Order: sequence, then structure tokens, then C-alpha cells
Amino acid sequence: MAQIRTYPDLERLSRAAAEHFVDLARQAVADRGRFAVALSGGSTPKSLYALLATEEFLRRVDWPRVHVFWGDERCVPPDHVDSSYRMAKEILLDHVPLPSEQVYRIRGEIEPALAAAEYDSLLRDFFGEVSGPRFDLLLLGMGDDGHTASLFPNTAALNERERWVVENYVEAKHMWRVTLSPPTINAAANIAFLVSGAEKAERLRQVLKGDYQPHLLPAQIVKPVNGHLLWFVDEAAAALL
Ligand code: 6PG
Repeated sequence: MAQIRTYPDLERLSRAAAEHFVDLARQAVADRGRFAVALSGGSTPKSLYALLATEEFLRRVDWPRVHVFWGDERCVPPDHVDSSYRMAKEILLDHVPLPSEQVYRIRGEIEPALAAAEYDSLLRDFFGEVSGPRFDLLLLGMGDDGHTASLFPNTAALNERERWVVENYVEAKHMWRVTLSPPTINAAANIAFLVSGAEKAERLRQVLKGDYQPHLLPAQIVKPVNGHLLWFVDEAAAALL
């Protein structure tokens, strides 16, 4: 079952999410000697990333044992203003003692199908075919239209059952994206959604309280098979729940 945690504003939501990140990292390193986290793009996680880079939080994460992935990427070069890799790098990764070989970005600059196949095989090498893609933490956001990662309403990637990573053309954005597939997302040990702002309130109500229509509301697809799902929501976004 999904757990919903509500906070007065984005700042406090981000602080709680940072504490969650620290706890899961500590636990994963203690249990398995490493912490595999998949980051999200968009604007909501920026304050979380900035907080994790502060002196206060930096010391609390064993960064040399962290492995950083992405849940999705826009098909643009890594220095492009729309690159989710660039965003996380500038706000967080450049400021923490993380070995560069433990940063696994999706190559948005190459042909989308190739970038997806390459990331698929990278994940298979990292996690192993048998264990499956079990991220210790997968961060997700939700768009105004109910999309999550780059699973947009009525797009082909929603039907993917075999591949771990897929390319997805998003008509609404006139662009290609590369995204984890639904089974890969749902194999994660922990998933945390960050949702903020009044403009998300009605869509969030539909996703959490409405009929199950995953092709219209892709965020509803997120149901970890053997993991925990937490929604970090601010009061403005939670207003209609
Ligand atoms: C992206 C992400 C996307 C994002 C949501 C929410 O790179 O844009 O793929 O799924 O998490 O669109 O974005 P905001 O946080 O900007 O609302």
C-alpha cells in the first residue's frame, strides 16, 4: 500500500525526503555495501538535491558507496538546459565525494533506441539478470498530465513488459525520451514520489483516489512488487485528497 506523507511546503517536504534518502543509503550500505539510487528530473527535486549537497547532509551519506542512475532522460546532450543529468550534476553531484565511475547517465545525445538499449544492458550488468533491476531508491515526480518518469499518457512505453529501459516518443512534448519501463520501476525496493503545488492537486486526486486508468494516468502504474511506495506531498498538492 502506498503511504502518503504531507508537509506544509516544498522546503519541509524536501527536508523529509533528504532524511529518507539518508536512512535508505545507510541501510543499503550496511546490508549490501552499496546504495543504488535512480534520480528524477523536473523542478520539484531540485531543493532535495540542493539540501543533500549541504554540509549538514553531505556528511551523513557514504557517497563513495553510492551509485547514481536516472529513472528517465530527455533526448538532449548532457550539457543541454533540458538535461536531467546536467541538472543533478550541477546541483548535487559536483558537490559530493562520489566517484565519477559510479554515475551512470542515460546518453540523451545518441539515437533514442540505442540509448535505451545501452542503458538496459548497463542495468543488466550492474544488477544481474537474475536479481532484476532492484534500485534501493527510485525517485519519481508526477507531471500535470499524470505522467511519471517518461511514461506519458497513451504512449507505447506503458505497454513494455520485457525491456528494462525503453525509448518513448512523447507527442505532447515533441521529443524523444528514454525511460525505465513499468516492470523496472516496480522492481525497486523503495520508490518516493515528490509532488508539490496546487496545479497538481486535481491530478493527484485522480491518481490516488480515482478509477484505475493507467493509460491516462501513468503514475497509477507505480505499484512496487516487493517494495515500499512513499508519496511526499505538500499541502497545496494534497488539497483535494
Ligand atoms: C522529467 C521527469 C518527469 C518529472 C515530472 C514532474 O524529466 O521531467 O521525467 O517525470 O518528474 O514531469 O516534473 P516537475 O517536478 O517539474 O513538476
